Amino acid sequence: ASSSSILPANLPIYALNLLSNPPSRPDSAAIETTISNLNLLEHIEGGYFAETDRDPLLVPNPFQHLPALTNPTAIDDSPTRHASTTIYYLVTPRSPVGHFHRNRARTVHTLHRGRGVYVLLHMERRDERTGKVPVETFVVGHDLAKGERLQWIVEGGIFKASFLLPDAEAKAEGPETGKQGGSVSEGLLISETVVPGFEFADHDFLTAETMRDALTPDQVRELRWLLKR
Ligand code: GUN
Repeated sequence: ASSSSILPANLPIYALNLLSNPPSRPDSAAIETTISNLNLLEHIEGGYFAETDRDPLLVPNPFQHLPALTNPTAIDDSPTRHASTTIYYLVTPRSPVGHFHRNRARTVHTLHRGRGVYVLLHMERRDERTGKVPVETFVVGHDLAKGERLQWIVEGGIFKASFLLPDAEAKAEGPETGKQGGSVSEGLLISETVVPGFEFADHDFLTAETMRDALTPDQVRELRWLLKR
């Protein structure tokens, strides 16, 4: 990757190729067991999820009078929101991408297993003159010495995408072995707590048009595989 590249330069190329074109084969038995033990369902963003908590406490809806989202997943301008919600979220070799979307509420993320890359589009720091926004990427994982993160916060309004990495760089095998990149991961399992609680009315997907406005052509070429189709 060139020095201006957004994604970490040390990513195995075969993994990127694979992940941008997910395999249509089943996940490992261990991953299937996790999906079943945690009662996970397919998420419209990609990956799998289960809501594990929804605080019954209702708080004033801080988003009630905001302008509508570009393409909201639902409409609901009720005066209250649940104080918080928490989900498990899992991306796997079969469903390795959480596609670009945003929530109006901020989200606290906690890693349980695996490794992945997060890509954030900072819409709140849009350049007035060019219309372009800063892009932030980081690796989530257990190797603290390498700067991988166990916790990360995404403020409301930021577009977010994520994708699976092999569990360890060293274990990754090239395509010549016939073992594809995705097969060396047992999945990226996290918890997400949204405050105030998640509602589809506060959620939308990044469109190709908004991506073109916010990013340079080079960035679009590098990141458009993370758009929900
Ligand atoms: N239902 C569908 N998607 C989600 C999500 O991301 N969070 C919560 N809490 N519920 C959902």
